[in-house]
Amino acid sequence: MKKILLINGPNLNRLGKREPHIYGSLTLADVEKDLTEFAHNRNVELNCFQSNYEGAIIDAIHNAEGEYDGIVMNPAAFTHYSYAIRDAIAGVTVPVVEIHISNIHTREEFRHTSVIAPVTIGQIVGVGVYGYKLALLAMIEHLGGKLDE
Ligand code: DQA
Repeated sequence: MKKILLINGPNLNRLGKREPHIYGSLTLADVEKDLTEFAHNRNVELNCFQSNYEGAIIDAIHNAEGEYDGIVMNPAAFTHYSYAIRDAIAGVTVPVVEIHISNIHTREEFRHTSVIAPVTIGQIVGVGVYGYKLALLAMIEHLGGKLDE
């Protein structure tokens, strides 16, 4: 069974309460539960991790080496400026798919850049929390796993 780690960055613990017109009304617990089941139906074990701290996210990336086959990650605001997270991803062999709930390209200028994207397989943006499923499927496909139920 493939093992994938879902990492959510800062403020995503407030999903459902935080700017619902942008991020929707589902909570992180809702998203994680749904995605864990979605993964399980495709023979994938999904573990979920969220942190508001850059160092904790870096540690989770390091610790994923040898433990996980892939990482699906919403780095949240760190996307736009964390060279440290980018370097952590570049320094492990675990592949990463980046996901953003909102369309970062139609929002404020500072959100248009991802310093993370160049060290990922690809980026899913702007389709709401549904993007987590697309990102997971992209990772499963990358790992040669089973895409349908
Ligand atoms: C986000 C977009 C980021 O710009 C923002 O800082 C977030 C969430 C998204 O999922 O749309 O916290 O990553």
